Amino acid sequence: MSIESFFCPSSVAVIGASRNKEKVGYTVLDSIISGGYKGKVFPINPKTDEIFNRKCYKSILEIPQDIDLVVIVIPNKFVLQLLDQCAKKNVKAAVIITAGFKETGPEGALLETKVAEKAREYGIRIIGPNCLGVIDTNCMFNATFFPTLPDEGSVSFISQSGALGTAALDKAKFVGLGISKFVSMGNKADVSENDLIQYMTDDDSCKVITAYLEGVKNGRKFMDICQEASKKKPVVIVKSGNTNAGARAVSSHTGTLAGSAKAYDAAFKQSGIIRAATIKDLFNYANTLANQPLPKGKKVAIITNAGGPGIMATDAFEENGISLANLEKSTVEKLKKFLPAAANFYNPVDVLGDALTDRYKSTLEIVLDDKNVDAVLILLTPQSMTESYETAEAIVEVFRDNNTRKIPIVTCFMGGLAVKEAIDYLNRNQIPNFEVPEEAVESIKVMMDYYDWITKEANHSQKFTGGVGKVKKIFEKCRNEGRLELGEMEARGILEAYNIMIPKAVVANDIVKAKEIAKEIGYPLVLKIVSPDILHKTDVGGIKVGINDEKELEDSFEDMLFNVKKYMPDADIRGISIQEMIESKKETIIGVSKDPQFGPMIMFGLGGIYVEVLKDVSFRIAPISREDAKEMIGEIRAINLLKGARGEKPSDTNSIIEVLLKVSQLVTDFPEITEMDINPLFVKEEGKGSIAGDIRVVIGG
Ligand SMILES: Nc1ncnc2c1ncn2[C@@H]1O[C@H](COP(=O)(O)OP(=O)(O)O)[C@@H](O)[C@H]1O
Ligand SMILES: [Mg+2]
Repeated sequence: MSIESFFCPSSVAVIGASRNKEKVGYTVLDSIISGGYKGKVFPINPKTDEIFNRKCYKSILEIPQDIDLVVIVIPNKFVLQLLDQCAKKNVKAAVIITAGFKETGPEGALLETKVAEKAREYGIRIIGPNCLGVIDTNCMFNATFFPTLPDEGSVSFISQSGALGTAALDKAKFVGLGISKFVSMGNKADVSENDLIQYMTDDDSCKVITAYLEGVKNGRKFMDICQEASKKKPVVIVKSGNTNAGARAVSSHTGTLAGSAKAYDAAFKQSGIIRAATIKDLFNYANTLANQPLPKGKKVAIITNAGGPGIMATDAFEENGISLANLEKSTVEKLKKFLPAAANFYNPVDVLGDALTDRYKSTLEIVLDDKNVDAVLILLTPQSMTESYETAEAIVEVFRDNNTRKIPIVTCFMGGLAVKEAIDYLNRNQIPNFEVPEEAVESIKVMMDYYDWITKEANHSQKFTGGVGKVKKIFEKCRNEGRLELGEMEARGILEAYNIMIPKAVVANDIVKAKEIAKEIGYPLVLKIVSPDILHKTDVGGIKVGINDEKELEDSFEDMLFNVKKYMPDADIRGISIQEMIESKKETIIGVSKDPQFGPMIMFGLGGIYVEVLKDVSFRIAPISREDAKEMIGEIRAINLLKGARGEKPSDTNSIIEVLLKVSQLVTDFPEITEMDINPLFVKEEGKGSIAGDIRVVIGG
């Protein structure tokens, strides 16, 4: 609601405007006026009559008209009562630059809550407190204490850090990156990244949404908003603070491997967010995405005047899974006509160290015409005769006038002083230039991935009609008995209710019963100790696999009871589970942990009992789609083990997808599940299914 009042308001009052150059109240007013803002500006200060040759009002109430936006720089203790006056003037939005709120401790936090509550009552939206302010270049509105208005452009930037915001704005100006809107969110008492991203999604002056975030306010909503935004325009985010401070104590395999950094990774991926590792990357990506058309395929051409950088770029493309285009025969013929015989006419096209502007220009024109080329990287090193500036001009000209297929072009003019002017020219004319080939390659990769994202079909999660009623009953029984961890048989019941396969198993309390069960199930068999006190059965001698006959059964049964009692004399032993032995299989894990921000998170990996050692796992936030499930399996490093290494038959990955989807449905139906491990999930060869070998489920109170 009314987020637009922060941008291009028709009137603004600066509460706490000052004549003292050292005060924020001076700088902010100066920024607004000298930035060129055309709306009405009212300075407010009870101690002054005039600032910057403008009438200064003693209070907002004295202004003879209603006010759209107020910028507040007065001390924190006056803010609350000021809101009452703002309401009388029909103020729609307030930027609270003043500090001294949540960031200072409990007292400040309380004040902040009161301010937010009062503003909500009056229907006034708030940005801040403790922020740098807001900029909208479309109306030359700079309501910050950063004095320089950025160049007008199409990248909008949201920053959770004010200081970083000033650094970013300064850099943007320096490299000629145009900004549409800038918002420093401060403490996010009201307006958060969710409101702003949602607003920017429909803001036509913004082509790329970028943000620096330390955390998000409402994880699920954030995902929904970003999913919608990223289908319309790129959303590039730097997220810092990847520690797991405050994580709950967890006992499951999944819980140990999960954590907030993994949750953010998964949530970003599922929402189509382009994750930048550094602010520099954020700029690189934003610059490319804002200024270049997206490549419609994955084949690149390199044009260079030096061998070394060409090889470096080729390596970097390969590492990113991007291949060099196979140039058409006609292209090679055309290149041969005018390039010297020593040049390389194949990709990377080497125009040689003595290349002047014309060689670059004609080569670029010919390469852009090649149907196999989807993107072009131009490398230039400054040799003594190189015409860096003229070459830059030629590239811009060809990009504008002779690029009918709309192929993206990025450059890497390497060096310093000799290429500085050329680089400035390129940057000012929509051609992103990168310091090193690797950075250029990365930006091309980002464009290609983003094209995949927007052309990918809608990612619907699938619905199963699981046995909700059965599971409800099992949970109720546990709660009534004061337990939060399910017993093995109960956990098996849950998987059965959701049609996930489990091995045949019956619990025996004595050897006579064990023999009967064994006959029914058939050898080979597995014995497992059944006890609510034993978390990891293998560690206490509570697992015996490969029991082939009655004699082995008798020996192992007695041995197991003896051994477990020796290890854990006080354990409550409920018997031994006699199980069907699953053969010719791979051991994987599927688990669930609960993230405080994003809710249930699903993990897949290889490992069985070694999962914590291998740490070869992938994550997604539930509910997941079939596509997500496929990607999760494809993401693990040892994927080739499942595809069938060294003559083995491939594993039944389709059945893993099914189990992942069913687990996703289960935890979506039952948010009270706080931890769950299916470890191992036995995966048989293609067409033969997956079976849950060992299951742990913990529910919340
Ligand atoms: N039914 C079974 N068929 C074949 N192997 C099994 C079976 N059950 C367990 N195993 C083997 O024993 C290992 C440990 O079993 P599991 O039930 O996961 O016990 P825990 O995790 O408590 O130690 C499994 O990773 C698997 O290698
Ligand atoms: Mg296990």
